[in-house]
Amino acid sequence: MKDEGAEVDVFYTKKLAVKPCEGEYACWFKTPGACFQRDDMDPLLSLISRAEVLVFATPVYVDGMTGPLKNFMDRLIPIGHPEIEIRDGHCRHPQREKLEGGVLALVANCGFWELDNFDPLVVHMKAVAKNLEREYAGALLRPHGGALRPMLEGGMAVGDVFDAAREAGRGIVRDGRIPEREMKIVSRELLPREAFIDVANTRMKRALDKLGRR
Ligand SMILES: Cc1cc2nc3c(=O)[nH]c(=O)nc-3n(C[C@H](O)[C@H](O)[C@H](O)COP(=O)(O)O)c2cc1C
Repeated sequence: MKDEGAEVDVFYTKKLAVKPCEGEYACWFKTPGACFQRDDMDPLLSLISRAEVLVFATPVYVDGMTGPLKNFMDRLIPIGHPEIEIRDGHCRHPQREKLEGGVLALVANCGFWELDNFDPLVVHMKAVAKNLEREYAGALLRPHGGALRPMLEGGMAVGDVFDAAREAGRGIVRDGRIPEREMKIVSRELLPREAFIDVANTRMKRALDKLGRR
């Protein structure tokens, strides 16, 4: 994204102090647009509203996003207006700050082998994009992600995955969407499923043996 001239801010939800939403709706009625809680979310709300490209990144935890990212998402409620309107045949809350051409993309990895492990997360992110009045710009999804680093360090040919991820960053800034080709390369099979299970179970057994556990 930086290659293409974008100004990029990166925040790690795990490192942010963000209290859970308490469902008070003070941000809609008592203090419209502002949460009653004071924490790291304060400066981020307007940044999120104004960002042309939002990229949410998460590993798959129990078939969805991590707790800290969901916690963060819940705290985005103040940027919406309490009024309900119908958009694309569906109830939505209008965003307070209108942004033409805003997009939202997803970057995720998961432990299991199959690409469909991302299905619930992708459905969720598409709904979030609609709620935030943004176009869904695609996703970089890396199944059996744990295999990538050992393969890279072992000198195996996985450079195309990283090159495609870089090109995806350029594409989203240039065209407002991740190119289909790059999405496919990033998600490509790294090794057959049976081989993946063999390697994973052998490593797991070795680690447990070392600790004297079963
Ligand atoms: C609490 C927890 C739940 C997980 N649930 C899933 C899951 O439902 N499906 C899956 O494919 N991987 C699951 N994983 C594996 C992670 O997605 C995987 O290890 C990923 O590579 C972790 O990302 P990281 O390397 O960025 O920490 C889970 C891992 C943890 C710790």
